[in-house]
Amino acid sequence: MKILILTTIFLNTLYANEHQLPLVSTTISPNTEFVIFGTRHGNRNPDEYLSGIDRSWGQEGSLELTSVGKRQGYGLGVELRKFIGNLTSSNYNASEVKYYSSSANRCQMTLQVAITGLHPPQSWNDWNTQRFDDWSPIPYTISDPILRMYSVKSCKKSDENDNSQVLQYLSQETGWNMTQNLGKAADLADNLIQMDFYNTTYPLWLTQPKINGYSGSELKKTIMEFAEIHPRSCAYYYPCRYLMGGLWLDDVINKLNDANDSKNALKVIGYASHTEVTLAVMKLMGIEKEELTTSAGFVIEFRRRPNVAVRILNHDPNPIDTHVIYPANLTKELSDVQESDGFIRLSDFIRIVRPESYSDWPKQCDAPSCALDNPNADFSSSTRSFSSQLTVAFVTILAVIIQ
Ligand SMILES: *[C@@H]1O[C@H](CO)[C@@H](O)[C@H](O)[C@H]1NC(C)=O
Ligand SMILES: *[C@@H]1O[C@H](CO)[C@@H](O)[C@H](O)[C@H]1NC(C)=O
Ligand SMILES: *[C@@H]1O[C@H](CO)[C@@H](O)[C@H](O)[C@H]1NC(C)=O
Ligand SMILES: *[C@@H]1O[C@H](CO)[C@@H](O)[C@H](O)[C@H]1NC(C)=O
Ligand SMILES: *[C@@H]1O[C@H](CO)[C@@H](O)[C@H](O)[C@H]1NC(C)=O
Ligand SMILES: *[C@@H]1O[C@H](CO)[C@@H](O)[C@H](O)[C@H]1NC(C)=O
Repeated sequence: MKILILTTIFLNTLYANEHQLPLVSTTISPNTEFVIFGTRHGNRNPDEYLSGIDRSWGQEGSLELTSVGKRQGYGLGVELRKFIGNLTSSNYNASEVKYYSSSANRCQMTLQVAITGLHPPQSWNDWNTQRFDDWSPIPYTISDPILRMYSVKSCKKSDENDNSQVLQYLSQETGWNMTQNLGKAADLADNLIQMDFYNTTYPLWLTQPKINGYSGSELKKTIMEFAEIHPRSCAYYYPCRYLMGGLWLDDVINKLNDANDSKNALKVIGYASHTEVTLAVMKLMGIEKEELTTSAGFVIEFRRRPNVAVRILNHDPNPIDTHVIYPANLTKELSDVQESDGFIRLSDFIRIVRPESYSDWPKQCDAPSCALDNPNADFSSSTRSFSSQLTVAFVTILAVIIQ
């Protein structure tokens, strides 16, 4: 009974954020001609599993997409279809839609289920209605330069914190050494997220902690603060954010310009990537946001009438099968030029966010050396220009696993 009650409290803590989400999605503007969406992959397994719990989940393997993650991605696709209406046909049309993913399994699989929700086959596109009435294969392109820049070593003091007593307790209970390794603490947080989604009973050391002054829910709250500590600090730290998201932003701007110039018949473009990369590009395009939950991301509407303009939206799962698309909070510079319906002139948008993008990525990361994934290289020279700092930030590619 006690465990049940505690679990409920924990679930409430986990979902508190989602509860503040709008319940209904924004309606697409009747003038919208082109839509871009970007998403983080859905829920995935931790890197390492906690022992001593009765675990019913995790069979997919470490860091792979879970059934919850698949449901989240599919929910995104279904909501996107409701949002775009008949902007494109339900059937996949190679001239009108284009999709991109990072090479990571979890990103590809998230994109696959999202576009399944977006493009259920109908009439001529049906091919085996008995087994796959709502599914047909849909192609996509893998682009790692755009969607999988590496995590950067110690992106700004990410390992500093004053929870040594808690870390010591957790190290002792889990058998994982968390001293100077918050990645392991983040992994514990990932395990708790899975245990909540899959209704796994918590161990006693968590519900009734033997650590001064901590109740079970306080301990859980502290652990959850470790979640994604590396990726989030990357998105907060400008040089890292710029490297992660700058090329993607450049691609988005090019695609908006192409739409404005009627260069092609594209109506929908979608991208699937990782936490830090997706959060980074969102922050670079002026969205005020500090966290990005699994399968969350952004949506951009483009219109030509009554003026050439874009509208920037967020999308979030709530928390698994339902998904919501809603206006993003923007930086003051952008919100100052926003019209009453939320649109911003494309020329203003590009003027404001263009400096945050780059197109020559081999130059940015000092290719070809950046291709050498050598975490042991020594780059500890003292005088650096900003751009060589970027280079160093990139080259000092780390073993921190991208989320
Ligand atoms: C798409 O839907 C809108 C609104 O329901 C309707 O006005 C329009 O005629 C439809 N367009 C096509 C091509 O079906
Ligand atoms: C696919 O999209 C192209 C470009 O908009 C259009 O000309 C074509 O009719 C579409 N095909 C189908 C089957 O709807
Ligand atoms: C844990 O890791 C730290 C840093 O690598 C090390 O100094 C410490 O000795 C380790 N503790 C144990 C119990 O292995
Ligand atoms: C966990 O329990 C809740 C509530 O009973 C249920 O909605 C949810 O689907 C369960 N999770 C899984 C993964 O089965
Ligand atoms: C936007 O900002 C307001 C005021 O700070 C805040 O209450 C709200 O939660 C924010 N919404 C989003 C979507 O970030
Ligand atoms: C978009 O297209 C219009 C009309 O062709 C053009 O005047 C404008 O310069 C283009 N670019 C932007 C950013 O609005």
